[in-house]
Amino acid sequence: MIRLGLYGAGNRTRALLNSLIQDQFYCVESVYDLNLKASESLSETFGGKICRTPEELVENPEVDAFMISLSPFDHAEALRKVIPAGKPVFVEKPVSFSTREVRELAELADKYHTPVQVGFMRRYLPESIAMLDFIKQNEPGKLICIDCNWFHHGDTEMNYNLYHQPDNFRLKVSQIPFHCCHLLDIMLLVGGNVKEVSSRVLKIFDRPYPSPDDLISNIEFENGANGRFHYSSMVYYTEFTYRFHFENYSIKMNCGQNNLEIYHRPRFRTSQVGADPEHAKDFGKFNSSYESFCLPQIINFNTALPQANENIMFNFVRMVRDGIPPESDLHVAARVQALAEAIELSGKEKRTVIPAEL
Ligand SMILES: NC(=O)c1ccc[n+]([C@@H]2O[C@H](COP(=O)([O-])OP(=O)(O)OC[C@H]3O[C@@H](n4cnc5c(N)ncnc54)[C@H](O)[C@@H]3O)[C@@H](O)[C@H]2O)c1
Repeated sequence: MIRLGLYGAGNRTRALLNSLIQDQFYCVESVYDLNLKASESLSETFGGKICRTPEELVENPEVDAFMISLSPFDHAEALRKVIPAGKPVFVEKPVSFSTREVRELAELADKYHTPVQVGFMRRYLPESIAMLDFIKQNEPGKLICIDCNWFHHGDTEMNYNLYHQPDNFRLKVSQIPFHCCHLLDIMLLVGGNVKEVSSRVLKIFDRPYPSPDDLISNIEFENGANGRFHYSSMVYYTEFTYRFHFENYSIKMNCGQNNLEIYHRPRFRTSQVGADPEHAKDFGKFNSSYESFCLPQIINFNTALPQANENIMFNFVRMVRDGIPPESDLHVAARVQALAEAIELSGKEKRTVIPAEL
């Protein structure tokens, strides 16, 4: 049984613990939180010794692995304390709002041979897993374009926090690195390295919400593919959508209905032009074979977020128990933060930004 040292006893820590708590892969050995009441309440539910300082947590020899989930402004400092212990770590996203700092932490983890898994949970959604699997199993050909939208009504989050928790970190962070990092992680996973970024940002409304009102970013991948990322907090529905256009097929990945839609380019000359192209003079008839061969395969997955929590925690268990290197480590987090930072910087300074130079 993995004995966990918890650095932070908030809502996210509980959700992660709960995801596999009945499977007895892990138990709570120690917990430290700035807020003693939060530690006490968590310890009542999950057990574990309460630590009064981070040092007490880090130095406990009974701890096998750490989980860090705090205000994102405090993740970096916590990692600096925990990494030198050399024990596996799970840290929530975002690791830091500075690309340079995430890179330094990645180097620190390499130096101490400490495996660190970062909570890019959306790559563990069943539709993301299926999409990545499909690409692996079916030759995509050249990547042409990745086009993603992240729309939400920022008002609701702002109002809730202003009403209930005016000090909450969610009122101090921009959604681009804070929340859209999940989407950017998937963009990079499929598209590879980004060469340059050019954004246009709108910040028209005066409100205590640091996120852009709207932002559109054109992205050029190193492999020559186009990318486009559109964020808006001024949309009155929620949409998290991805469009992947490859030479051999297009994939739509959606939150909600029709999680995965796969449209194939007809594979053979005959399926493209039909068996008797000579006699199909009418445009519609000429293309009817093509159209019918690219009708989509549509797959729905019903248990999105709970399944992603379960998957990411099982990945963590495998990292600690079986020594399997983390899929989303601090180097991945540095690339994601570099893209988020480049997207915002480009909009702010109205110039093209190269993420690798940040
Ligand atoms: N991957 C995901 O899908 C996902 C989902 C939700 C939250 N999160 C991340 O999890 C983190 C925590 O979010 P939450 O909703 O649990 O917040 P929360 O406010 O419920 O919990 C945060 C806890 O951290 C404690 N804390 C803050 N700074 C600390 C410090 N320096 N030392 C010790 N304790 C400290 C607070 O007292 C609080 O108990 C955030 O960074 C958020 O981005 C990720």
